[in-house]
Amino acid sequence: MAMTHRRFDTLVIGAGGGGLRAALQLAEAHADVAVVSKVFPTRSHTVAAQGGMNAALGNVLPDNWHWHMYDTVKGSDYLGDQDAIEYMCRAASRLVIELEHYGVPFTRLDSGQIYQRPFGGQSQDFGGDQAARTCAAADRTGHAILHSLYQQNLRAKTHFFDEFFASDLLVDDEGYVLGALAVDIASGEPVVIEAKTTLIATGGVGQLYRTNTNALINTGDGMAMALRAGIPVQDMEFFQFHPTGIAGKGMLITEGVRGEGGYLVNRDGERFMERYAPHAKDLASRDVVSRAIALEVHEGRGCGPEGDHVLLKLDHLGADVIRKRLPGIRDSAITFAGVDPIEAPIPVFPSNHYTMGGIPTDRFGQVVVPARTGAEEAVPGLYAAGECACVSVHGANRLGGNSLLDIVVFGRAAGNHIIDFLAEHRQHRPLPAATVERAMERLNELDGRRGGESVAGLKKELQAVMEKHAGVFRYRELMEQGLAQVKAIKERLAHIEVRDRNRVFNTARIEALELENLVELALATVVSAIGREESRGAHSREDFPDRNDQDWLKHTLFFRDDLRLDYKPVRLKPLTVDAFPPKERVY
Ligand code: FUM
Repeated sequence: MAMTHRRFDTLVIGAGGGGLRAALQLAEAHADVAVVSKVFPTRSHTVAAQGGMNAALGNVLPDNWHWHMYDTVKGSDYLGDQDAIEYMCRAASRLVIELEHYGVPFTRLDSGQIYQRPFGGQSQDFGGDQAARTCAAADRTGHAILHSLYQQNLRAKTHFFDEFFASDLLVDDEGYVLGALAVDIASGEPVVIEAKTTLIATGGVGQLYRTNTNALINTGDGMAMALRAGIPVQDMEFFQFHPTGIAGKGMLITEGVRGEGGYLVNRDGERFMERYAPHAKDLASRDVVSRAIALEVHEGRGCGPEGDHVLLKLDHLGADVIRKRLPGIRDSAITFAGVDPIEAPIPVFPSNHYTMGGIPTDRFGQVVVPARTGAEEAVPGLYAAGECACVSVHGANRLGGNSLLDIVVFGRAAGNHIIDFLAEHRQHRPLPAATVERAMERLNELDGRRGGESVAGLKKELQAVMEKHAGVFRYRELMEQGLAQVKAIKERLAHIEVRDRNRVFNTARIEALELENLVELALATVVSAIGREESRGAHSREDFPDRNDQDWLKHTLFFRDDLRLDYKPVRLKPLTVDAFPPKERVY
């Protein structure tokens, strides 16, 4: 039977906020754009973003984008690229208003303006008083944004391949990306989707860790696809642990709770953040708060019979504020922790939340790789945006509220760059049969595997290894043990069983492909983490406890084939303003 073959100007892989914002830009410019999504688009993980999107609107407290830029650079522990950070912070206010016009129902102040809440790491006047910069739709901001963007795309006639899994990029011998091979999950049939440009927007890889705030779909598919195409991934040692996951389960309790006035206490009822961050307290940046919680528990001041968590207190906010501004949090706490936060505190512990690293891009969304000249060059036809990309605006630690901003800003920027690219590249390049055959080999080989290894079992093992050996606190020996275990799991992939009574179930096949992707990224994470001999942002090494700007103010690049690392400098020069030089980071 002939394989189904489709052609578009642009293929977008992933239907979260980054993919949909890019697709909308393209569809409105009358490009022929298709979005492939392994879940129905409005189930993409953007739907889970709670607290809001940062923009210096100044509706609640004085603000400007330059202060936002300073906070983001400082939050990144100076590993963020300052040109991209300037670009993002300058664009933020305009793009919030644009979203409002797309139909996002932001919460309102009595004046009718968009409500903004304080979030961690935000300041006025370059490190002064707390700012209130996070534009919120109650505690369901991502949900509101994703649904609005989806509806706008339907209006603009974007084509959707719902519940199709993109397995690999189609790359010709000259390195041009010509689309992707996808699998229709319902029928199991492969589909060749040819495109002049391809944008990867597949989100992060939170499923690498056992305790996480992420959807099951966050398996790093796009990053792994890039690795298999010979493209490195950048800064994979930096994973954000959100301070307030529900203890023992991991679900997100938004930073917005602390923004509204909630605070953390240990078993003595002490507001311990006052010791770790005397100025910002509970609204210090996430790496600082997560480490503080882990230390409180480690030093015996944890709560509960096992002393394994701390408490997030918000009952003093009053039932009205909780019902109006934090309704989803109340539901989650009742459902998953068995407490009503109107009456009792929520048990919390850090939970893996966000992948700071990803596919290296410039601020136009072009995927960039080291060239022979030592400079960087764009991979022709390939773009990435959102959590799967590393622009890098988050550096070693992302500020809460900057991820919804990132996806909208850089999804749009990638869309604009693609429009220009399409104007200059009107014809499809020929798609060699060998390119398709190479991509098909992986699928065919997978179906033939036998050996009884359970995909679900291996995934659990992998997550446990990552949690223990590449978690909040790290040192060489621990990570090297972890690396050996991940390599052993990779070998066992050859024996996974995707058949049951001689039938291949389509979902089992997809889960096997996802597991392969997770293993690729586990290797990237552990090797990159062993390589970085300093502590910076979310990467905390007991054997190298200090930040070392002299040797390590640089981005890591991990290459799949020989587990090789390379490094490239941080872009310290902004576009139009003075740089923020690295200095000690205190909150
Ligand atoms: O805490 C939160 O609502 C998460 C927001 C974010 O990660 O940006």
